[in-house]
Amino acid sequence: MTAPLLSIRDLSVSYVVGNGMVHAVDGATFDVPAAGIVGLVGESGCGKSTIARALTRVVPKNARFAGGEIFFDGTDLLKLSEGEMNRLRWGDIAFIPQSAMNSLDPVYRIETQLGEVLRQRGGLSKAEAREKSEALFELVGIEPRRLRDFPHQFSGGMRQRVAIALALALDPKLIIADEPVTALDVIVQRQILDQLQALQQRLGISVILVTHDISVVAYVCDRIVVMYAGQVVESGDTRTVLTAPYHPYTMGLYNAFPDLQSSQGILTPIEGSPPDLSAPPSGCRFAPRCPFVEPECRATEMVLHEVEIVDGPAGHVSACRRNGDAEMLRAKASEVATWSA
Ligand SMILES: Nc1ncnc2c1ncn2[C@@H]1O[C@H](COP(=O)(O)OP(=O)(O)OP(=O)(O)O)[C@@H](O)[C@H]1O
Ligand SMILES: [Mg+2]
Repeated sequence: MTAPLLSIRDLSVSYVVGNGMVHAVDGATFDVPAAGIVGLVGESGCGKSTIARALTRVVPKNARFAGGEIFFDGTDLLKLSEGEMNRLRWGDIAFIPQSAMNSLDPVYRIETQLGEVLRQRGGLSKAEAREKSEALFELVGIEPRRLRDFPHQFSGGMRQRVAIALALALDPKLIIADEPVTALDVIVQRQILDQLQALQQRLGISVILVTHDISVVAYVCDRIVVMYAGQVVESGDTRTVLTAPYHPYTMGLYNAFPDLQSSQGILTPIEGSPPDLSAPPSGCRFAPRCPFVEPECRATEMVLHEVEIVDGPAGHVSACRRNGDAEMLRAKASEVATWSA
């Protein structure tokens, strides 16, 4: 069993708002293997971007690390000085922010923006930076002559490719891509995802792909981490988890999204909305929306339990206290009536 590249242990991040706190991430634990794509998925507001940013330690001013550890290659990132962390950013860990497509500076040509990263952060000469920029554009499937273009001259899909090229500039071991395909149509989504997967395999790197769309995870991710209301509720090998989910939230999320590869199936939304993270409910946070809730669920704190022993860097874990009933719940979850009751 090889050691994971990244181990997130009991990570908690809160935001100070007014005279209260929003507990955006609460005790999150998961691993990212040394090569492969991990999908971090959950509804809007469940803390995905907060985790993504916490991993690079580029967080909003009102964010507070409230506990936990982030081991990258064995080093706890939360214990590094700002200077040490700065050396890891771009170099080892590259981040593509949620609105990367629009965050390219409109007044500079792409070659200027890419060149700046390569020269200032990568220490390359002007000629080397030029050569590397061309290679990066070829890698992401854009003609190198387009380096001279301004961001507005690219389509949305191409801008996303440019953002990927930027992320790859300094040969990172890990790329964190926050909603890289969300604003794109399905065909372009698939092209970008195919390319991200091809690059991941060719370069042997790790990717954390943040998305609210579980079909994106099903399409391209080796592992899945399902988040609900700031907590990880289930994680494991994607195929294992999606064929036989243990947590009702995973079951519900899977019913709620169209399949990227086929257009069949009825979509069943999960009624209600996630809780307010400034005062989350006690016990299982999904209990208020769960069709299988029992009174004890509201009183029992969620803890991840191994549900299957699987080979590989980490097993399949789920935080439902009814893990033992999963087979029966899965059968019920496939009926539309279960979710509209
Ligand atoms: N700077 C901030 N100050 C206060 N609260 C914040 C801040 N950023 C995020 N939050 C809150 O933290 C929670 C988690 O937000 P986050 O952006 O991590 O969610 P997300 O899963 O990425 O959502 P989305 O799918 O909409 O991008 C939400 O309740 C959000 O309102
Ligand atoms: Mg987000």
